[in-house]
Amino acid sequence: MVDLISKELNELMNKQIVEELQSAYIYLGMAAWAIEKGLKGLANFMKTHAEKEEYKHAMKFTHYIQETGGKVKFDTVESVATEYENVEELLVAAIKHEEYITNKIKELMDLATTKNEYYAFDLLNWFIQEQIEEENLFTDLYNSFLLSGKMLGVWDQHIKHPE
Ligand code: FEO
Repeated sequence: MVDLISKELNELMNKQIVEELQSAYIYLGMAAWAIEKGLKGLANFMKTHAEKEEYKHAMKFTHYIQETGGKVKFDTVESVATEYENVEELLVAAIKHEEYITNKIKELMDLATTKNEYYAFDLLNWFIQEQIEEENLFTDLYNSFLLSGKMLGVWDQHIKHPE
């Protein structure tokens, strides 16, 4: 039987699966709020992000654990906000969430490095690069909102997730 993952890294990756699914859930909560407000562009952006990015991130960790002989555990995903004061609050929350996830990926890399788990480096390096994209994606979205003069209708019609 393949045995290429330590118990500690396995546990932390199982936690990261939840973080990624939680991320999908958070963005679906944001999409739900946007739909209620008639902001279809923002709703589509957030739904696309949940489906095309966060779900895939969770699956990448799942497959890695399985390929290296570990044990996958799907823990509880918490309920998320579906209420926001305004678009600005929502976008700042998205940026802060991605900063939080970046720190989680760094913790995984720290552990893999400490334990010399070289097999995990490619995957974790991919995630480190991905977090640059993720933080930029939401920062750019926020900046585009500010540059639009907070003209909600016009801004909403022009935003599109790069997928
Ligand atoms: Fe999977 Fe947005 O980090």
